[in-house]
Amino acid sequence: MNEKKHLLCIVGTRPEGIKMAPVIKALKQASWTRVTVLATAQHRDLLDQVMSLFGIRPDMDLDIMKDNQSLSELTSRLLTRLDGAFAELQPDVVLAQGDTTTVMTAALAAFYRRIPFGHVEAGLRTHDMANPFPEEMNRLVAGHLARWHFVPTQRSRSNLLREGIDESAIHVTGNTVIDALLEVAAKEWTLNAPLDPSRRLVLVTAHRRENFGPPLRQICTAIIRLVEHHDDIEVLYPVHPNPNVRSVVAELLSRHPRIHLVDPLDYAPFVEAQKRAHLILTDSGGVQEEAPALGKPVLVMRIETERPEAVDEGVVRLVGTDADEIFTQASCLLSDAQAHAAMARGVSPYGDGHAAERIVGILKRDLGIADEVAVSGA
Ligand code: UD1
Ligand code: UDP
Repeated sequence: MNEKKHLLCIVGTRPEGIKMAPVIKALKQASWTRVTVLATAQHRDLLDQVMSLFGIRPDMDLDIMKDNQSLSELTSRLLTRLDGAFAELQPDVVLAQGDTTTVMTAALAAFYRRIPFGHVEAGLRTHDMANPFPEEMNRLVAGHLARWHFVPTQRSRSNLLREGIDESAIHVTGNTVIDALLEVAAKEWTLNAPLDPSRRLVLVTAHRRENFGPPLRQICTAIIRLVEHHDDIEVLYPVHPNPNVRSVVAELLSRHPRIHLVDPLDYAPFVEAQKRAHLILTDSGGVQEEAPALGKPVLVMRIETERPEAVDEGVVRLVGTDADEIFTQASCLLSDAQAHAAMARGVSPYGDGHAAERIVGILKRDLGIADEVAVSGA
């Protein structure tokens, strides 16, 4: 009989909730695990929503979020509180996903307590510390402290090999976001938004720190020009709660009848919105992974992406944050059916929906857990 291993799964923000949910679920189903879920609540409402959708109730909640939190105060609060939690819980393994401040501090706190750390969605790089900011630094730190690197693609594996990470610690699993997406997208969900079905839907999200200020204003300008030039489209823009985003978007976009600014959508309706969209404009990481799998063309409003695989496949295009360029590229896809069809091919370079079970299998093997042998007559 195997002794149960205590795995501590950390979640902080909306995308971590979505991407860790399949891992938490698979770990809980395994007979050799004891699973504790710790929510830092770096995001409060956005995280609570996804945890409840996936039926996961955190065992511990640090309730970290403050309005308009600065990176330094967030980092220091997280590090201190995570250290206290690790001291109390004494897990065998800490697992976290991605490149947020929660993940970087979880890796560091685990390192200080000498607890092995598993990094889900490891190896993504732009090689530019300013883009995305501060995420490139966060994943470099987490990546150099991890015992297990669960990378989504061969490209992310190569990034880590170039940084001198031991090959035996890197595992190509696919991205767990595709596990979550396929589960949710299999059903049809109600999308409570004031949309006219006769118009083509352009879905927009933007929240990156490096886009605050002039780049976000450029993005808004491009959206206004798009609705003015194409009277058969309407824009649905779920606005991220970060006050640096809200204030600018409300100021510039709230007056056009075909631009619908709404609160962040719950994950299931947001997946439904992606399914219904004709075109997606975003600076999100997760949306760059999901939309190609749903066959939706994506224009990424950033100057770098750590997810070049879909760009290479021709289903995502990096357009930067200049209003003219966003407008020109989006207009082309709205006017040219062939150009649109060439990008709407349903290519999914980030996973096949089985990433979480691979991660659990690797942990089981590396933690020395023997397969349970069925005893006949027992
Ligand atoms: C964070 C991550 C970013 C990730 C994004 C996903 C960092 C530094 N940034 O950015 O990598 O892409 O989450 O969305 O880790 N807020 C609320 N309610 C919420 C969530 C946020 O009101 O549920 C507001 C608060 O005022 C909060 C602010 O948004 O202070 C910023 O939140 P924060 O987590 O610091 O940064 P994000 O921009 O959300
Ligand atoms: N998402 C959501 N509701 C929204 C906007 C996005 O559920 O209103 C989901 C989206 O499907 C993706 C994730 O949130 O899975 C991406 O989160 P975000 O863009 O905030 O962060 P990033 O991926 O850039 O870190």
